[in-house]
Amino acid sequence: MTLKGDADLYGVLGHPIAHSLSPVFQNVAFAYLGLNAVYIPVDVQPQTFEVTFNSFKNIENLRGLNITVPFKEKVLELSDQVSEEAKLIGAVNTVSFVEGRAIGYNTDWIGFLKAIEEVTHVEGKRALVLGAGGASRAVVYALKRAGAEVFLWNRTLEKALRLSQAFGVKVVERVEETLSDVQIIVNTTSVGLNESDPPIFDYELISPQHVVVDIIYKETALIKKAKERGSTYQTGFPMLLYQGAESFRIWTGCEPPLKVMKKALEPFGYPKNG
Ligand code: ATR
Repeated sequence: MTLKGDADLYGVLGHPIAHSLSPVFQNVAFAYLGLNAVYIPVDVQPQTFEVTFNSFKNIENLRGLNITVPFKEKVLELSDQVSEEAKLIGAVNTVSFVEGRAIGYNTDWIGFLKAIEEVTHVEGKRALVLGAGGASRAVVYALKRAGAEVFLWNRTLEKALRLSQAFGVKVVERVEETLSDVQIIVNTTSVGLNESDPPIFDYELISPQHVVVDIIYKETALIKKAKERGSTYQTGFPMLLYQGAESFRIWTGCEPPLKVMKKALEPFGYPKNG
């Protein structure tokens, strides 16, 4: 498809950004719907982020941005208006530009919720969330909003306690002692990104009754073990897809073409049957 000169611009800002798969499925979605739009990754140095973001507001054809690590909290401050969810979560991952004003949203929470609801109903369940960083806040918010009881573990206890005050969840100090009380386990830490990462807990304790979700989008050691143990499991790919699909909906007002977006991610590891 050839773009016309007045094409709408979209992108993702992060540092680093080369690994981002968002351009892969967002561009496919624009092309599929015949929209005159393009989505590009932009690597921004943290020292220049504020000035870059503010100058982006002046680009006439810029309609929307995704924001990723490490800028989601910063964009909460820099947006002219932010959604209620983004405020509560404390992070913006989606910006819509309307007449030069940046409107911030968070679609990570709904992306996570739509994804996990593909494998289990969340309402009334007990869930253990590992990690208390930025990603954890969206996951905890989503689980609470959907009616789950949430237990939170973090390597640094103080961070878990801070998050628990904000969201009213219980902090646990030992994962092993909580496993038999929960039906859902979600990893939001960076453990598993590298093959050599030592496990967070003894993964042999995962049982077939557990639903195990890792928001990292690859088969981590945690997911491999859940599979081996006969548990229901999910990698981070569906969350990646759904958070992007919700951003697409906000920007364009169109129903995101989920099937083609998912297909575009398959060569990068999105499970064919997942
Ligand atoms: P993100 O935005 O992806 O959540 P983050 O805010 O930097 O990133 O949070 C990273 C999370 O991974 C934190 O919960 C961190 O634990 P600490 O608060 O103790 O730092 C967790 N994490 C990183 N490396 C870890 C490790 N080796 N073991 C356990 N948790 C780890």
